[in-house]
Amino acid sequence: MTAPLRPSEPIVVSVALGARAYEIVIGRGLLATLGGRIKPLRANAKTAIVTDETVAGLHLAAAEAALASAGLGSSPIVVKPGESSKNFATFETVCESIIAARIERNDLVVALGGGVIGDLAGYAAASVRRGLDFVQVPTTLLAQVDSSVGGKTGINSRHGKNLIGAFHQPILVIADTALLDTLPKRDFRAGYAEMAKFGLLGDAAFFSWLEANWQDVFSGGQTSGSFAREHAIAVCCRGKAGIVARDERETGERALLNLGHTFGHALEAGAGFSSRLLHGEAVALGIVLAFEFSARKGLISAADAARARAHLAAVGLPTHVGQVPGGVPGVDALMDLIAQDKKVKRGSLTFILVRGIGQAFIENNVDPAEVRAFLTEKLAGQ
Ligand code: NAD
Ligand code: GLY
Repeated sequence: MTAPLRPSEPIVVSVALGARAYEIVIGRGLLATLGGRIKPLRANAKTAIVTDETVAGLHLAAAEAALASAGLGSSPIVVKPGESSKNFATFETVCESIIAARIERNDLVVALGGGVIGDLAGYAAASVRRGLDFVQVPTTLLAQVDSSVGGKTGINSRHGKNLIGAFHQPILVIADTALLDTLPKRDFRAGYAEMAKFGLLGDAAFFSWLEANWQDVFSGGQTSGSFAREHAIAVCCRGKAGIVARDERETGERALLNLGHTFGHALEAGAGFSSRLLHGEAVALGIVLAFEFSARKGLISAADAARARAHLAAVGLPTHVGQVPGGVPGVDALMDLIAQDKKVKRGSLTFILVRGIGQAFIENNVDPAEVRAFLTEKLAGQ
């Protein structure tokens, strides 16, 4: 895979879902074009912009101005930043605020933020008036490569991650890569875990490219002039769009996107959905565990598992459970959390395992005793 040339136009990726098809538009400076891109889809729409306090302080005024320049009115709905906003109380506030802003059918909800805002606003859009259209304007790397695409929306339950939600596709995704310039490094790294995931699950050439070019993805081409960031986001979006078009409701191959998530969600819930362990950091740990579990089962070489770990460690992501500040729960608590995973069917565990870099597969009927023994070893070594 060669380094991409600087594209003069945004990159457009289509999500082929028939009547619910939409475009993902990727490029620097796209926020200013938001109104102009929405207008042909919903000429006279009113909009409610759902965002969090941090993103509001940085980018809400520009989003409002972009909508106003196309004659589209907007009402802001601002929630607290962070995973803890994916709860019932905030969901209620967002729904009531959308209704109070008189957003009706033919109007729009705009999700301006990271994965938390996309999931929360998308679920509110799916629910208010039995379904409003929404536009995703992802502002984190994680949201630009993964969560803004594919229509999974929802909130967390006290029993586990993302257990309440709906499939509800956006009508448009605008990924302005310049918005990532204000993202704290820790959040950028966390999103990178989901980017590396796309290589590790199904695209070995992309993973090799990331090993060689990740610094350019992080710098956003500001020092090198490369368009590595846009290129890498587009590779992930094309990969995800293809999977979603073939398996929108996750009856099969879409589950591959959960590589690292069964272990990761348990660790994230175990850390109380707090800033001790960000979602992407939990995914990085979960990917390492999925590779090491695969190695333990003789599916891959120890060298492949070490290679996946080495790259995630090189970018500064946690790759040992011992790196989680305050530690992680014991094996009983982790096994309970794993048992709540959405991929559990009648007690048998399903994991996404690997036969090599870029060769993930769905393994049903994983023996819980084997997982328990593996985690016991890992926790003892932390
Ligand atoms: P996030 O939305 O909490 O954003 C991370 C932090 O960055 C927040 O504090 C936010 O205020 C801040 N921020 C956002 N954009 C910024 C910007 N441009 N500049 C400065 N600060 C900014 O978290 P996230 O990592 O984007 O998303 C994680 C969530 O995504 C999890 O809840 C996860 O379950 C979900 N997710 C969903 C899917 C899906 O398919 N729906 C896929 C992957 C992850
Ligand atoms: N992030 C997992 C999915 O969208 O299916």
